[in-house]
Amino acid sequence: MSSSSTPKPRRGAAHTVTLSDGTSFAVAAGQTLLQAALAAGLEWPNGCRVGLCGSCRCRVTAGKVRALTDFGDVISSQDLAQGDVLACRCHVQSALTVASDYLFDGLAPDEADIDATVTRVERITPLVLLLEVRLDKPHPNGYNSGQYARLEVPGVVPARCFSFAGACRGDGELRFFVREFPGGRLGEWLTAVDRVGARLRVSRPLGHFVLRDRKRPALFFAGGTGLAPVLAMLEELASLPSMEQPPVRVVFAARDQQHLFHRDYLDPVVNRWAFGTPIEFVSVLSREPRPSNWKGLRGYFYEHLPTLTTGFEQADAYLCGPPGLVDAMQLYLLKQGFAKDRISADRFLPSF
Ligand SMILES: Cc1cc2nc3c(=O)[nH]c(=O)nc-3n(C[C@H](O)[C@H](O)[C@H](O)COP(=O)(O)OP(=O)(O)OC[C@H]3O[C@@H](n4cnc5c(N)ncnc54)[C@H](O)[C@@H]3O)c2cc1C
Ligand code: FES
Repeated sequence: MSSSSTPKPRRGAAHTVTLSDGTSFAVAAGQTLLQAALAAGLEWPNGCRVGLCGSCRCRVTAGKVRALTDFGDVISSQDLAQGDVLACRCHVQSALTVASDYLFDGLAPDEADIDATVTRVERITPLVLLLEVRLDKPHPNGYNSGQYARLEVPGVVPARCFSFAGACRGDGELRFFVREFPGGRLGEWLTAVDRVGARLRVSRPLGHFVLRDRKRPALFFAGGTGLAPVLAMLEELASLPSMEQPPVRVVFAARDQQHLFHRDYLDPVVNRWAFGTPIEFVSVLSREPRPSNWKGLRGYFYEHLPTLTTGFEQADAYLCGPPGLVDAMQLYLLKQGFAKDRISADRFLPSF
């Protein structure tokens, strides 16, 4: 373990975790194993902190934990049986022993966050903010379209996951779409005063929601700010030589016309698409008032799934946005015979 000293147990601590190298730390009631390890100053590997990436995985050799989500998507049943858990999504229920050699064998330690400056904040729908930042130094290896980073305003906004809303340009200029929630700490911070010039921290690129095969037809399905990683992937496909650009359909689910913010970002992408290769955008509005001038699809997206997938039965599918939308779409595609390995999904879960 990279921490040389053993932290003292904190007041109110419920249980002690001991690593096989002898390091121990306390876990307070309500803390996840990862929160407690980080609070104790340990460099525990981690990424998303919501149970998606597997970076924080470790093997419990004695003691009891309570899983806050199903680990089955990330950890195989054999490894679950061996005691593997996701530290970011479990509460500790007894004194615990964790195999630290295993913990650090297969996992890269978290790379340092990079300081950045806010360069633009703009409301683009009643619920979505455009946030642009400039990194003090670009990510050393850039990022892949579809990945995300954790944004943090130290001491004010804890680290939250946000997808890069555009392909990597390598210049350290980043764009994000931020959905506002009542009490949402990042949204409140961004809108409280003019934040241009304010400082924040951006993690290394994270996540495996990336283009699998650039040559295959692609069906993208985005809800709300789920458009961000989709836009990044489309920009990447648009930069391919025209002969290599695949047929694409993008379905965007939103409440009503006020929440349609995709055209400003997607139109420039369409203009770069090869003549003759289909690229199609379909919006589905769930709460568009009647009457209105909207001539597109109305209702919930799942009412239109057969239409939305026709012609793309052999495509790779990329689903992104609110978990309910992603789950429903994934279930439908699986029932239609899409192979599981042709479906990629990124669920925008709340941070914990
Ligand atoms: C891999 C990944 C990528 C993501 N990318 C984006 C992105 O590009 N754009 C984006 O807007 N969000 C994205 N999210 C979701 C975002 O990280 C969370 O919504 C985050 O909690 C928002 O932080 P906040 O400070 O605004 O609100 P918080 O202070 O975290 O939350 C305030 C309140 O809103 C509720 N809440 C927060 N997020 C959600 C949610 N997603 N669904 C329902 N209720 C919620 C909380 O439970 C809480 O009650 C992503 C999440 C993941 C896991
Ligand atoms: S940090 Fe725990 S799964 Fe990503």
